[in-house]
Amino acid sequence: MRIAVIPGDGIGREVIDAALPALELLDRAFGLDLHCDRFGWGAQEWLATGTGLPDGALPMLRDEYAAVLLGALGDPRIPDMAHGRAILLGLRRGLDLYVNYRPMPMPGGGTVELFRENTQGLYAGVGGTVSRGDEAQVAIDESVYTRDTVERFTRYSLGRLRALGCGRAVLVHKANAVPHTGRLWQEVFRREAERFPDIVVADEYVDAFCYHLVRDPGRYEGVLAPNLFGDIISDIGAALMGGLGLATSASICPETGQALFEPVHGSAPDIAGKGIANPYAAARCLVLLLEHLGHTEPARLLDTCLGAAMGTAAATPDVGGQGTTSGFMDEVMTRLAGELPGTGEERRTG
Ligand code: NAI
Ligand code: MG
Repeated sequence: MRIAVIPGDGIGREVIDAALPALELLDRAFGLDLHCDRFGWGAQEWLATGTGLPDGALPMLRDEYAAVLLGALGDPRIPDMAHGRAILLGLRRGLDLYVNYRPMPMPGGGTVELFRENTQGLYAGVGGTVSRGDEAQVAIDESVYTRDTVERFTRYSLGRLRALGCGRAVLVHKANAVPHTGRLWQEVFRREAERFPDIVVADEYVDAFCYHLVRDPGRYEGVLAPNLFGDIISDIGAALMGGLGLATSASICPETGQALFEPVHGSAPDIAGKGIANPYAAARCLVLLLEHLGHTEPARLLDTCLGAAMGTAAATPDVGGQGTTSGFMDEVMTRLAGELPGTGEERRTG
């Protein structure tokens, strides 16, 4: 099993460097036979060579890699984020990763399981600019949805919600003001939901949904959202969870099994290089990655140790601790070593 690692820019590199040893430790302890290859795609390469995703990258990832792990992209020297779009949107569209899954554990208990459509809507890349720089400038970004993509997304998401044991699912939309795509989503959602009589479904306007999510997250279990709404909801979710340093996401193509795991946060230039970025979200990506590859026991162990370390002083300042990026992962590694077959005994005798 080969895993493509793209550390990216800023704290993306820091959190990936800190988190990967945990995967290596689990790989050795459980004999998972995982191989990580690093790719330096990001701002540096873009500025030096103009290359975002190199030619041949997509077929290589499709044919040779079981999963992709990405840190974050973003660099103040590239204010329009052209390299980020080339790489990230290139991977999402090129690998047809149309489901973005974002688990959001809430402080009051329970998890809001967010599924965001990841390839179309306002991100479809349809639009243009007329009379740039002029008084008369016109800028257009079209929201594009095709029935087949809404269907396959909805069916997969409801299926995953059932597997996760969720009894309720909400579709968020804005069909009152954005009727064409809104109605398509409503119709498809209602029809697909008939296949899942065990899940109670409802649909809500996205603005009202955001209001309720902040006031009473316990209202929600599963949430399905078009691309842009899902993007925004996941940052609200991250704030409710306790910060961007905690939120993870998996982008999946259910048909091919291809998947890309990344923290929700960006490259955080304001704290890059200071050694205080929270590596929790990056390490939690490894939990999702291990689950995706079917390695449930190592995933559970890592998740438990991450949660336990979070309650200690080793946690980073963004979540109220005094720790550092590497110090937090040292705490996690110590806890992992104590739990792993063999290593616990060695620790006790040594
Ligand atoms: P950001 O997520 O990088 O940072 C927002 C705020 O949260 C900052 O104050 C930052 O210090 C804090 N923060 C984020 N992650 C943290 C962590 N792990 N530990 C502690 N604090 C953390 O978003 P921002 O500042 O809007 O964007 C910075 C750059 O990242 C931009 O170039 C943006 O385009 C890019 N970006 C990339 C994403 C990606 O690669 N998927 C996602 C979001 C932004
Ligand atoms: Mg976002």
